[in-house]
Amino acid sequence: MDPLLRKLYGIRKEDIADYEKYLMLGGGTRPAPTIIRGKGVWLTDIDGKKYIDCTSQSWAMYLGFANEEFNATITEHLKNASHIHQGFDTPSRFMLAKKLAEKAPKKINRVSFTVGGAAAVEGGMKIAIKNRENAQEFITLYDAYHGTTLGVMGSSWVSTKSSGKFMGGARFNRLTRQFVRVPNPYCYRCPLELKRENCGMICLKLLKITIEKAVNGPVAGLIMEPLQASGGQIIFPKEYLEGARKICDDYGIPLIWDEIQTYCRIGTWFASGYYGVEPDIICLGKGLGGGFPIAATMISDDLEGFSPDTEELHTFANNTVSQVAALKQIEMLEQGILDNCNTMGNYLGGELTKMRKDFPRMGDVRQAGLHIGVELVRDPVTREADAELLQAVRNYAMENGVIFGVGGMLKNVLKVKPPFIITKEECDIILEVLRRALKHAGL
Ligand SMILES: Cc1ncc(COP(=O)(O)O)c(C=O)c1O
Repeated sequence: MDPLLRKLYGIRKEDIADYEKYLMLGGGTRPAPTIIRGKGVWLTDIDGKKYIDCTSQSWAMYLGFANEEFNATITEHLKNASHIHQGFDTPSRFMLAKKLAEKAPKKINRVSFTVGGAAAVEGGMKIAIKNRENAQEFITLYDAYHGTTLGVMGSSWVSTKSSGKFMGGARFNRLTRQFVRVPNPYCYRCPLELKRENCGMICLKLLKITIEKAVNGPVAGLIMEPLQASGGQIIFPKEYLEGARKICDDYGIPLIWDEIQTYCRIGTWFASGYYGVEPDIICLGKGLGGGFPIAATMISDDLEGFSPDTEELHTFANNTVSQVAALKQIEMLEQGILDNCNTMGNYLGGELTKMRKDFPRMGDVRQAGLHIGVELVRDPVTREADAELLQAVRNYAMENGVIFGVGGMLKNVLKVKPPFIITKEECDIILEVLRRALKHAGL
């Protein structure tokens, strides 16, 4: 083994304090183990303890860890090329753009690559502004998350939560003001406290009123996740997406879907396959490169795209390793792994729903592919969120070899989003550990 790697893998627990002081961390749920390696859906920490990872590390590792077929392609490619400047063409960029366009809604055929999800959303914003004369302000949804760069921070809950709780993105308000929020169709916890049966989709009416009365000048775009992830694994009613599409058409507003978490994870290549509704701009990131950094902005044929030497230039926008990784992952997803995402997702979703009989404080189970959230509540009738229960469950599960994600504005949504290669036996381990964790918490 390379001596550098030997040293790196040989790091001891007692050495950590020496290193830790040099780091400056922002987000991420702590405490968390120090991870040394992974294989399949399993991670191994510094003590040699193994965990099934239901977070897929920021939900991004669709093929799991150290996938041999995937890694063989990448290491072979690395012998030839890695980073190439955006101004040069590469076969991998040509092929990935074509492949993504083939999978995307019919009208979405042009792709611009970048490095991170937030930059991809900003790319979508630039396209929208370019196509809407005098428009500067965007509409986003309550509980949205589109990243933390200064360009998008104001669109995300990281800034909203600041009201009275913590500063978060609000500290940077002067630079992040170009967003107006509208209520999200979070039907389990309607922000307007209405019941789905008789709400008349008032959130769509509010969207319309906001466009007419609350935005300065024409609206540059409606930015939304088609299924809110960070906000609490919130699956929107199809009716809302159809209605939002119609309103955007009526007012000539570009509809921007942030598919950074939905791409493939909800069981379809793009969310249009799930909802039957098509946006004008799609932003991708996270899982696109199977763990390698790559993101993309995709646009409709009706929109004017980026021009040479103007709005969009990033040093690592043409990383051929990430592009090969994205292509190889698509090939493997086509060969059955996307099907497995659906099969295992439906299995987990079904079993979690059944578990609610024994554990009614699992207030709601929301599943689309392997994009799964469970709301933990103090009482299924009042739906009062139980963040303490979630912490207790997460800690017990971590001790017992399963890492769950934590989410939702009330920090009570358990996230179950493992890699797509998970087996039924591994799903059963997750379910069993969750059952034991809930019992251990006194349920
Ligand atoms: C829906 C969504 N949009 C945007 C982002 C930001 O992506 P990145 O962290 O790569 O900038 C995230 C990250 O969690 C996300 O979940």
